[in-house]
Amino acid sequence: MLKGKKIIVGITGGIAAYKIPLLVRLLKKEGAEVQVVMTSFAKEFVTPLTLATVSGRPVLTDFFDKGDGTWNSHVDLGLWADAMIIAPLTANSMAKMSVGMADNFLMTLVLSARCPILFAPSMDFDMFQHPTTTENIKKLQLLGYHYIEPASGELASGLTGPGRLKEPEELLAEISFFFEQGLILRGKKILISAGPTYEPIDPVRFIGNRSSGKMGLALAKAFSAKGAEVELVLGPVSLKVDLPGIHVVPVNTAEEMYHACTKAFEKVDIAVMTAAVADFTPVNVASEKIKKEKGIEKIELKPTPDILASLGKAKRDNQILVGFALETDDEFSNAKKKLERKNLDMIVLNSLKDEGAGFGVDTNKITVLKKDGTSSSFPLKTKDSIAFDILSEIENLIGGMP
Ligand code: CTP
Repeated sequence: MLKGKKIIVGITGGIAAYKIPLLVRLLKKEGAEVQVVMTSFAKEFVTPLTLATVSGRPVLTDFFDKGDGTWNSHVDLGLWADAMIIAPLTANSMAKMSVGMADNFLMTLVLSARCPILFAPSMDFDMFQHPTTTENIKKLQLLGYHYIEPASGELASGLTGPGRLKEPEELLAEISFFFEQGLILRGKKILISAGPTYEPIDPVRFIGNRSSGKMGLALAKAFSAKGAEVELVLGPVSLKVDLPGIHVVPVNTAEEMYHACTKAFEKVDIAVMTAAVADFTPVNVASEKIKKEKGIEKIELKPTPDILASLGKAKRDNQILVGFALETDDEFSNAKKKLERKNLDMIVLNSLKDEGAGFGVDTNKITVLKKDGTSSSFPLKTKDSIAFDILSEIENLIGGMP
């Protein structure tokens, strides 16, 4: 898997740097070419001599450490690599990466690299729990960096908790897994529906719902961060979406959303329907504003097309179709029924009974049910973090396809 792969191993100044010579050795044993780049602080924890010996290449730290009037080109090195892993990544270097600071050779390389970058934060428990750390990890993920979660256990400070760098064998497994699975969404075409639909009664009034479109947008950003091309069919929301890699198709009604989705579906590999589509629409729409004096005795409604069910009927074997289910009672069995009825590969269930889940809020709590009968539940998280959990589940589905 790693034979012939060119890998940059970036080391920043944390105690866990002592694990990296072994990681480099394991990568070399797998047949990878390894270039170690370390910050000057990292040299306090592990020597460049050790790393140069195990990698078989001089270690780079500065732009000008050759002493012969030439310099180390971060641009050339960034083009050379197939992947880069930064381990351990300190809170300080992670903060720099999240704002694009380039005050040392390694950070410059991060900005120049065209290859995927994996980052393995490692720090003390309290630093790891700090809200800025959580924010920076999320930001790096949204920027397309691949997160290697730290392990929980005894830390160098004597505290116990999350923040410990994984063992070299585990890091090697993460890198191998990344080459196998992590690139799986690159170049894939994705269709996402998001937001509410507004069903007009007259030119100013409508029947709608409280969906904010946030979950769908978080998913669109996460897919795009993983190198996928996203078509986002978006109902009327106040969110502004102007991001590279995401093509927005604005719609208002369920009928418009149906046409936009069915048209796009033929060309995509994966479709995720997060929209809260109105199930009914007025039979008659007044062409002029209905005057109060005239009154409205009743509004006759007719059903809207079920977009997801139509896609389920048209679905090819090489396509993945994911739906959402917002339930208030008998949640699991209702979601399971929807999964079967609409011919889905996976359904994401959220219950309105769970505090912090549902419309308008920035958080969500989900359970994922798959066609093969398996399910996994996730704790309450921000919608941005949930999006990456949903993506991993979809990556697993692709991995299991014939
Ligand atoms: N959906 C859709 N088109 C519709 C209604 C729903 O594409 N006309 C999709 C939603 O985007 C979601 C899934 O179907 O992915 C389930 O939506 P939900 O409202 O939970 O279920 P319904 O099928 O509308 O059933 P009910 O409202 O009776 O629970």
